[in-house]
Amino acid sequence: MPYSVPKLETYSAEELDKAVAELLNALQQESQSISDETTWTDFRNRWTARKNGILTQINDGWLKAAPGPQKREVGQRVNQVRQRVEAVVEETKESLSGAGSEKRLKAEAVDITLPGTQRQLGATHPITLVMDEIVSVFKAMGYSVAEGPEIETDYYNFEALNFPLNHPARDMQDTIFIAGQEKKQQRDRLLLRTHTSPVQIRYMEKHQPPVRVVIPGRVYRNDAPDATHSPMFHQIEGLAVDTNITFSDLKGTLDHAMKMLFGSRIKTKLRPSFFPFTEPSAEVLVTCPFCTKGCRVCKMSGWIELLGAGMVDPALYGYVGYDPAKVSGFAFGMGLDRLAAMKYGVDDIQLFFHGDVRFLRQFA
Ligand code: PHE
Repeated sequence: MPYSVPKLETYSAEELDKAVAELLNALQQESQSISDETTWTDFRNRWTARKNGILTQINDGWLKAAPGPQKREVGQRVNQVRQRVEAVVEETKESLSGAGSEKRLKAEAVDITLPGTQRQLGATHPITLVMDEIVSVFKAMGYSVAEGPEIETDYYNFEALNFPLNHPARDMQDTIFIAGQEKKQQRDRLLLRTHTSPVQIRYMEKHQPPVRVVIPGRVYRNDAPDATHSPMFHQIEGLAVDTNITFSDLKGTLDHAMKMLFGSRIKTKLRPSFFPFTEPSAEVLVTCPFCTKGCRVCKMSGWIELLGAGMVDPALYGYVGYDPAKVSGFAFGMGLDRLAAMKYGVDDIQLFFHGDVRFLRQFA
């Protein structure tokens, strides 16, 4: 039988003694069955709940109901009981959390004599090393750095770069188109960008001249992977647009950059070429950094072809709202993967993308 508060009849000292003794006895007994948070909460509510808790019951049933002359005596007893009940509620709570924390301490104990978990430090990928190096050469000449999306529209990758629809120049870049877009207009169709040049347009749309920017990034072409090709590779684009920029600025800038990258012994030369978005266009060659009279890297020619470049075709200015009568500029684009392979003497660019730590560790 759970304890229930009895009614008092005489309010005599003996009756009170007995009732209080019984109550404290019940308190003691019930407190012993507390084993966790839930049973403790039940216990606390049963005894101290404002609504119908045992303390409330004795307050109403004993104190309030007591006849006038007995009120003082009853009030003292009820107060004693209240203090005792509150103390037991407190103590049981404390011993509960004490036991819990001991359990927790045991469970969370750490053996500090065990060897620690080693976390290997990452290192910069060789392509990123080369990219950072080139970026810093151009930063030193006052260039900013920009980036653009790898999934690009036909408009930015081709049309605004002056590749007319169906023009054979598009065939120079075996493009990976995203499937299922036949219903879209050609210019809205998505593709994996074949070069970083679309960011020239994106950048000029957002910035007014003077522009000096380099744009590193990943590009994609439908090439079968082999020692010198990869369907995913890296380029860094350069763009300078201002008033009175001339072809000799292009030559001087690239010559300086190549000397910074490969050493002051390096010479550069230009060879006529074609790109729809530059006019005139050129291929840039550097003297082989590895030899003076011909080696395997330069295929015995003494020269290595490194970049495409040229004066920005004024047609592009029409697409971005620049006035072609007022501005001129140059652009260049350089592949990073073959450059990195050359620089580090790697004979297969596929090695850069296999993620083999034994290979990558050599650059750490
Ligand atoms: N975008 C060209 C390519 O990928 C390179 C280039 C960039 C040429 C800028 C001229 C000017 O082949």
